[in-house]
Amino acid sequence: MLKKLFLSLMLSLTLTSVCADEGMWLPSLIGSRIKDMRKKGFRLSAEDIYSINKASLKDAVVLFGGGCTGEYVSEQGLLLTNHHCGYGSIQQLSSVEHDYLTNGFWAKSQAEELPVPGLTVRRLVRMEDVTGRIAAGEKAQDIVAEARKEGYAADVQQMYYGNQQFLFVYEIFRDVRLVGAPPSSIGKFGGDTDNWIWPRHTGDFSIFRVYADENNRPAEYSKNNKPYRPARHFEISTKGVDEGDFTMIYGFPGNTQEYVISDAVEYVAEVSDPMKIALRTKRLDIISAEQAKSAEVRIAYAAVHASIANAWKKWQGEVMGLRRLGTVAKKQAYEREFAAWAKSKPEYASLLDSMHTAYKQVETEYYIRELYNESVATVDVFNFARTIGRVAESGDEAKLATQIASFNKGYNRTIDEQIAAEMLGEFLQRMPSERLPEGLKAAVEAKGGAKKYVEWLFAQTSLLGDVAPTAEQVKADVMVTFAKQFEPIIENNRKYAYRNLSNVPEVERWYRPYMQALREWDKKRAFYPDANLTLRVAYGKVAGYEYADAEYHHPVSTIDGIIAKDDPNIYDYNIPQQLRDIYAAKDYGRWGEQVYGRYSVPVCFLATNHTSGGNSGSPIINGRGELVGINFDRTWRSTMSDIEFDPSICRNISVDIRYVLFVIDRIGGAGYLIEEMSLK
Ligand code: ARG
Ligand code: GLU
Repeated sequence: MLKKLFLSLMLSLTLTSVCADEGMWLPSLIGSRIKDMRKKGFRLSAEDIYSINKASLKDAVVLFGGGCTGEYVSEQGLLLTNHHCGYGSIQQLSSVEHDYLTNGFWAKSQAEELPVPGLTVRRLVRMEDVTGRIAAGEKAQDIVAEARKEGYAADVQQMYYGNQQFLFVYEIFRDVRLVGAPPSSIGKFGGDTDNWIWPRHTGDFSIFRVYADENNRPAEYSKNNKPYRPARHFEISTKGVDEGDFTMIYGFPGNTQEYVISDAVEYVAEVSDPMKIALRTKRLDIISAEQAKSAEVRIAYAAVHASIANAWKKWQGEVMGLRRLGTVAKKQAYEREFAAWAKSKPEYASLLDSMHTAYKQVETEYYIRELYNESVATVDVFNFARTIGRVAESGDEAKLATQIASFNKGYNRTIDEQIAAEMLGEFLQRMPSERLPEGLKAAVEAKGGAKKYVEWLFAQTSLLGDVAPTAEQVKADVMVTFAKQFEPIIENNRKYAYRNLSNVPEVERWYRPYMQALREWDKKRAFYPDANLTLRVAYGKVAGYEYADAEYHHPVSTIDGIIAKDDPNIYDYNIPQQLRDIYAAKDYGRWGEQVYGRYSVPVCFLATNHTSGGNSGSPIINGRGELVGINFDRTWRSTMSDIEFDPSICRNISVDIRYVLFVIDRIGGAGYLIEEMSLK
């Protein structure tokens, strides 16, 4: 018995060290990981990943728009990303006659590609540790200004809460054109229901092309621009992946907080997330009920619903995951050990106490900001009342009339009024009462509660009527006066507008010495800086997972699963007839293969790569550096990896590159695009 226990203990120890795939590594420092990567199946060198002397894979990866990743797959600037990353662009180019979101879009030639005004992609030219230069007295803005002289964009980013500074130099391309997108019934298959869920069957990709001037340099849109020739593009593997295969992801994860102390985890798991989830549940219930009544409302609110639901579901997984792992208790134990070590070190001995105090100081303020943003600030007419109040002050009657007319044109009063009632009620209940605007609570109670009060506001306001009010009327309007009461709160909230509670300066300053101390003390830990939308490498392998007893999830999904979910009566599961026909005839051509003993087409797969929001659209490559998939999601049960990564269940979800090619070829009829890619 004992021996058995010992054996299984040994086994679990080796298992965790073998599949410990935590980490988002800086590409310029990847040399420190390359031995481990090669042991796990990577065949390339650190120089292949990142080099400033020759073309490397980093030249094939871009920051797409403001918060996604994309990758070059041809010598002519052809770029892949997710459908949900291209969504805004596709929507912007769509009209009633050309509904590319619904029907998809395939340019038949370069002449048919559609410029997307405002869309940019950024290539990392180089990154440089400038900690020493800054310590020696150079100013960050001078370092940035110097880099800009080379004609690039640049910024200095903090790593480890400011213990290290890196200069990032970017080339920004502004002529980016839409080349192809599947219909939403493929690109958004499963909608918000399947979002963050495994098994998954979403063809979440879209295709763009970057254009440059005759010198291959970034330029504003011009029809004389030429397809950009990237220094490097990804070759594509058509061989697919098997369970256990090495995978690497290269992209721009946005935000993690792996080193925060228990106070911060407790805030996320017990205060912030639960509040945000509860408030979003109310908004989603209201919106969904109205969407179910009308197709027009469903379409008008599709993007709003998707964006509210996305974080809502992620946070639920995060809370579950943190509780399941007991992260708060684990961190407390870690902190006790740390404190015992730090006791004899004067520079660190009182550190944790200072941190606890700092959290106590700012937590309520940070919470008020989050609460306000998730409640009162989500009501369209309240926000409008703020802006229009200012226009009225300026006395510009013409501007006033146009803005009021344009607000009313797209306005859904039924939804907004219900949300206003719920959100005001929640705000009053959850705010520390001494911080509420003076007299607000009494005024609401006098009318019989939030719902009655909001009814009264909506009935009295002149902003929503048929007759446009004058500037004088707007200044005295009930909605405008109501909105004005929140100005002091908004003003104060600006001071706490940081990524996370732990990034509020009063707290963050203690993390600098704390991180130094951790690195001195916790010698076994492999440190990597938290994600901050700078380029990172993570690696792992294709793997399923067992979440609960006997609940094993296989790592590859197939077209059979799409057909099983297909239902013409459910909007999110109503696939194109073409796909049904191809399936019925098993006419998969070169894309068909045996999966789990069936002839099918692989669609999505799971891997153990440590990812976060921003990694959407990132290339997933095999050990030879060939593209095997495009990352687009995580399982919601593993989203606590932003705070604690658990190698046994944390999985990222990618669309298999062969499904992407299958859709381009067989659904889009755009096989000519595949010709310019390098298939292996
Ligand atoms: N969960 C993915 C991400 O965080 C995909 C979101 C878009 N898809 C959706 N159905 N809302 O961005
Ligand atoms: N879909 C996410 C994104 O937009 C990636 C999912 C995640 O958070 O891992 O970046």
